Amino acid sequence: MARSKKEPRPENAGNPRARLRVLADESLAGGGPGRVQAQHDKGKLTARERVDLLLDTGTFEEIDRFVTHRCDDFGMDGYRPLGDGVVTGHGLVEGRPVFVYAQDFTVFGGSLSEAHGAKICKVMDLAMKVGTPVVGLCDSGGARIQEGVVSLGAYADLFLRNTLASGVIPQISAILGPCAGGAVYSPAITDFIVMSESTATMYVTGPDVVKTVTNETVSHADLGGAGVHAERSGVAHLTGADDAACLAIVRRLLSYLPANNTADPPELPCDDPADRCERALDTIVPQNPNKPYDMHEVLRGVLDIDSFLEIQPRHARNLLVGFGRLGGRPVGVVANQPAVLAGVLDIAASLKGARFVRFCDAFNIPLVTFEDVPGFLPGTAQEYGGIIKHGAKLLYAYCEATVPKLTVVVRKAYGGAYDVMSSKHIRGDYNVAWPQAELAVMGAEGVVNIVYRKEIEQSKNPAKTRAAFVAEYNEKFANPYVAAGLGYLDDVIEPQETRPRLIRALVALRHKRQSLPPKKHGSIPL
Ligand code: HXC
Repeated sequence: MARSKKEPRPENAGNPRARLRVLADESLAGGGPGRVQAQHDKGKLTARERVDLLLDTGTFEEIDRFVTHRCDDFGMDGYRPLGDGVVTGHGLVEGRPVFVYAQDFTVFGGSLSEAHGAKICKVMDLAMKVGTPVVGLCDSGGARIQEGVVSLGAYADLFLRNTLASGVIPQISAILGPCAGGAVYSPAITDFIVMSESTATMYVTGPDVVKTVTNETVSHADLGGAGVHAERSGVAHLTGADDAACLAIVRRLLSYLPANNTADPPELPCDDPADRCERALDTIVPQNPNKPYDMHEVLRGVLDIDSFLEIQPRHARNLLVGFGRLGGRPVGVVANQPAVLAGVLDIAASLKGARFVRFCDAFNIPLVTFEDVPGFLPGTAQEYGGIIKHGAKLLYAYCEATVPKLTVVVRKAYGGAYDVMSSKHIRGDYNVAWPQAELAVMGAEGVVNIVYRKEIEQSKNPAKTRAAFVAEYNEKFANPYVAAGLGYLDDVIEPQETRPRLIRALVALRHKRQSLPPKKHGSIPL
């Protein structure tokens, strides 16, 4: 409830100690019991409850709890709640420091004012100074309407800091309520967005504006709910059922990330033996090269047990990306998924892969690529949509990456996709293939149709002739030994050996040093 200007000062407020106590109680109260109840009724936690769940118990150190807004218009001078709608500070996650800000929807709808924005910028500046991740817990009605352009300026101050911090410290945004207008662009610049399936929405313009401008009728959830962004737009990297689930995901995500770009990612003790040979891997890939299988099973057999945290699991499912561990060390996994669209690379998969590869490279996380790709997806939809420039992003990202790059060709490595997926030619450090791998310009059927079409048409028995050419091609080219003979592969290995071989390669590559030519920055084909 707004407190009127005439409301009497709390008892003992003249005594500095007592005044501090009163103020401290007030800062904890947020927008008051009624609004806190409303927040709970929506299935949402308060900002402080969220911070407590995110951080190790009792580790939160708050800063700026006495800050208030500076707006005197619209009757705002009569109500200056302490903290101004955002709780900021630092604490520990699994014993490692993080900076955090949590918007308090019970105070002016968590809207961002000059003071609110300055508080967030202060923790970001501190985090940059010490090289520590920042987690933002977003639940906000956007720019503080009463402050007009001042609040827009405050957003811009935040966008600038998000951009300067990009690639220096990990930034994670948990969207736990509304997030509208330009406000979506701060999370969008951060590295990961985790959305609550029950309460989060993100859109540039809400359903009312959409109706006015395009005459489209759409609900909040259908326009910008977690389902839309996890599946269709790819804006959300992960989702959780509610606040608690999202915060648990953020904690897990942080466990793979270094504090900053000069640190190594955290190693954990590992019970899973480094020399574990998984026999099941020998039979995962079907004999028939056109039969699908689930690449998750390959990852399960190779990575430390239960260590895979898939990122964007519902978007562009033909490419899997995520964090895992090998011998306790975090790695970034990129893997074609033959169970979806035969693992082909399309626009969405290229964007998903490129962003992930660049993140890992920025934060010293070795890349492990599992390859089974028939090429880039043909067709007008892809060409008109710019598969050339989007596919080039993935290529560029892999070429540019200087972290250890390990590649396992599981089955197909066809065409341009062979080059793109961390091949030796673009500075792959350790490239191996399984015995049934095919490294070729295209599959045998395609080759024979192009190269031997006349011979097949003119033969007495075209089916037999075609089969003979296919067999000959497969024998000569659709195998890993040509590439291995040229040194494009370092070895051909038994599938069951994959885990120990990768772990040993990681050990050998631990102190890899590689740099790019001096430049301001490259010009990735955006
Ligand atoms: C000030 C705000 C506010 C805002 C909400 N409130 N948004 N106060 N500035 N932007 C206040 C409400 O007045 C209300 O105060 C309390 O927060 C809760 O809001 P409700 O509307 O009662 O809550 P709910 O029904 O859950 O709806 C939430 C909402 C809605 C969807 C976020 O409040 C809303 O549409 N707000 C405006 C959103 C918006 O247009 N923002 C500007 C976007 S443009 P009381 O006192 O009643 O509790 C933008 C530009 C950013 O952000 C530019 C960056 C470049």
